[in-house]
Amino acid sequence: MGFGVLKPNNFTVFAKGLIIGEKADLKIEKLSKNFAIASVLNIINKSVDRREVTMPNTKAINAYKYLHINYPAQIKLKEKQLYDLFGYKIKVLASDQEFHYRNKSSFTISNGKYNMYGDNNKLVPVDQCIISHKEINKIMPYVLEAINNNKKAKIKEVIFRYSQHQDALMIIFVSEIDNYFANKIAQEIVGYSSKVKSVILNMGTSNNYLFNETEKTLYGDDYIIDRIFNKLFKITSKSFYQVNNYQTEKLYQTILDFGKFTLEDNILDLYCGVGSIALTLSDYVNHILGVEILKEAVDSARENIELNDIHNVDIIRQDLNDNLSIEDNIDCIIVDPPRSGLSQNIIKNISNSKVNKLIYVSCNPTTQKRDIDLFIKAGYKLSKQQAVDMFSNTEHIESVALLEK
Ligand SMILES: C[S@@+](CC[C@H](N)C(=O)[O-])C[C@H]1O[C@@H](n2cnc3c(N)ncnc32)[C@H](O)[C@@H]1O
Repeated sequence: MGFGVLKPNNFTVFAKGLIIGEKADLKIEKLSKNFAIASVLNIINKSVDRREVTMPNTKAINAYKYLHINYPAQIKLKEKQLYDLFGYKIKVLASDQEFHYRNKSSFTISNGKYNMYGDNNKLVPVDQCIISHKEINKIMPYVLEAINNNKKAKIKEVIFRYSQHQDALMIIFVSEIDNYFANKIAQEIVGYSSKVKSVILNMGTSNNYLFNETEKTLYGDDYIIDRIFNKLFKITSKSFYQVNNYQTEKLYQTILDFGKFTLEDNILDLYCGVGSIALTLSDYVNHILGVEILKEAVDSARENIELNDIHNVDIIRQDLNDNLSIEDNIDCIIVDPPRSGLSQNIIKNISNSKVNKLIYVSCNPTTQKRDIDLFIKAGYKLSKQQAVDMFSNTEHIESVALLEK
């Protein structure tokens, strides 16, 4: 659960799980010079926006910060957060699929159970995940049974990926060892469901499987294929891919609406990942150049270009912290950086270029605001901004801004 913020006598208190308008008895758990953290002992006046969720253990899980708040109130809260940050009203496009939207979910395996993270990185045992796609939830018990039937495989993490387009599942197991038992798990789960099209074993010692280089396909292909609008995307175990299919099209439609592109336009798509924005835009513009640092993502983007038989998108591999030469014929730059936002260098590069239109897509409005202020100082004006709720029941917000000069 997220924190409600109180300001008694201008001193900040973060109260876990308290909602705007509620009155409660609190217990101060941590006191420092500038703020205190409190737990809620007893709610005296409950907000009408509070709800109870029956799925066990959800309150302890960090990922579900807003789950205890009704969905329309979550949207209002996100709009308030954006207002407090930017100083003007920004609409948040709500999702029609409040639960079970994630096409990718990972769980740590411990004591023969799935676990998600709670406070202080404490593992919380779970059977299901309320924001994972229903097909992931359906296969979860069978996968766990197969893991527990084959404990010698020493599986420590499982990642599920689901393609709605193919109605297909990819299951990635992380283990430090490769042995016969991992193959047995794969055989057992393929026996449970014909929707499992790919089973991967990832070997390594890191807690973050993305950094484990050694992989082996235990069953099927090493990819599944998904679709955004009319474009297909090959997803491998390591691909960055938008997790919410239901809202991704709304996000990309916002980019199309803001861009008002013509078939003469040349676009620079910076931080392009596997090329999902570039490919979506390819029907509406003359040419797109995507720039991305990760080799795997660049390779996937190029494969996706081929898969969709597209001839007006090129991808280059470059670290955008280094100088980027921006051609004079570019009509619009799209940036979609990681949470840390843009480097001073890329902001200077863009601001010194002749490009008048910039679309800034961000999963972290705080760094987006910091960067927008710098663009405004450099002569851009903020023309439009809209957010899309890609992550309902969590505190995360995806925001799109149009800057022009
Ligand atoms: C938020 S993702 C956006 C992906 C893509 N636009 C999409 O919607 O699928 C950010 C991307 O920036 C890439 N990236 C991070 N740092 C970078 C850098 N210094 N230079 C170039 N790309 C970078 C990451 O590898 C990742 O693919």
